[in-house]
Amino acid sequence: MITATAPGKIILFGEHAVVYGRPAIAVPVSQLRAQATVQASPQPGVRLVAPDLNHAAWLADTPSDNPIAAAVWQVKQAIGLAAWPDMEITVTSQIPIASGLGSGAAITAVAVRAVTQFVGYEHLLTDEWVSALTYEVEKIHHGTPSGIDNTVVTYEQPVYFLRQQPQNRIETFAVAQPLTFLVADSGVRSSTKDVVDDVRRHWQANRTQFERIFNRCGELADAGRQAIEQGDARLLGRLMQENQAVLEEMTVSSPILERLVQGALDAGAIGAKLSGAGRGGNMIALVEEGMETAVSTALYDAGAKNVVSTTLK
Ligand code: PMV
Repeated sequence: MITATAPGKIILFGEHAVVYGRPAIAVPVSQLRAQATVQASPQPGVRLVAPDLNHAAWLADTPSDNPIAAAVWQVKQAIGLAAWPDMEITVTSQIPIASGLGSGAAITAVAVRAVTQFVGYEHLLTDEWVSALTYEVEKIHHGTPSGIDNTVVTYEQPVYFLRQQPQNRIETFAVAQPLTFLVADSGVRSSTKDVVDDVRRHWQANRTQFERIFNRCGELADAGRQAIEQGDARLLGRLMQENQAVLEEMTVSSPILERLVQGALDAGAIGAKLSGAGRGGNMIALVEEGMETAVSTALYDAGAKNVVSTTLK
């Protein structure tokens, strides 16, 4: 039996602007993971089982845009495999779906890793290769994904990411002081593709304003990276605040997200912002030692459906 796991992710800076070539920073959430196991099946064919998605079916009967099926087809094409062995692929995930935590990318990445290893091609399994295949699947679901999700969930390290031709700039970097984030679910599902499409319409209608907004997001990402590398949590928190204000101007915030941000700050968080596509999904709050419980309680009081703590080291 082969097993692979991958973390969820949060975006600290640069969501949306990253689609327009500005830098962004994302970090793994190691406490929330997707897992895939592949084992030989006594029955002929390829069986896909995803209890969290209520899915159990043969590959042949599964639409090719299903994230697990799409991962499996990508692997077959990439390695030029003539036929599958009989196998059962089971994917489970603790990462809430459609909430900006990279669940789709993590599910795809673990399926790619486990299946590739099961069919005997583990020598191909570099992070770069897994990330590239995962990106191909992300395209099916998100239209024009920047590539940041697949990168963070496969490398499982803080990533400074710049989308550019001919090759994205991907830099992993060190965290000088541990940083604790609370990740709060607004309970509102939001489609990344819809929000990205909507931002594109706004950008087309107001290029000057949106270029300025995107530039500011890029500057905040650069400053945020420095703050993390220097271990300056207070500065990092202020930069998160400013990014939230800019995301509000970008129209991707929402009343519940803003209630959660305010609730966290009032309870002592040193920074808080939405994370990911926005209009729902998750927000993140940066907390100093000893403040976790108070901020977590405030987030629930402000309407969070779930709060998870993650420490970046
Ligand atoms: O998948 P989410 O909700 O974390 O959002 C992805 C971040 C965007 O910048 C909005 C889109 C992208 O492809 O980078």
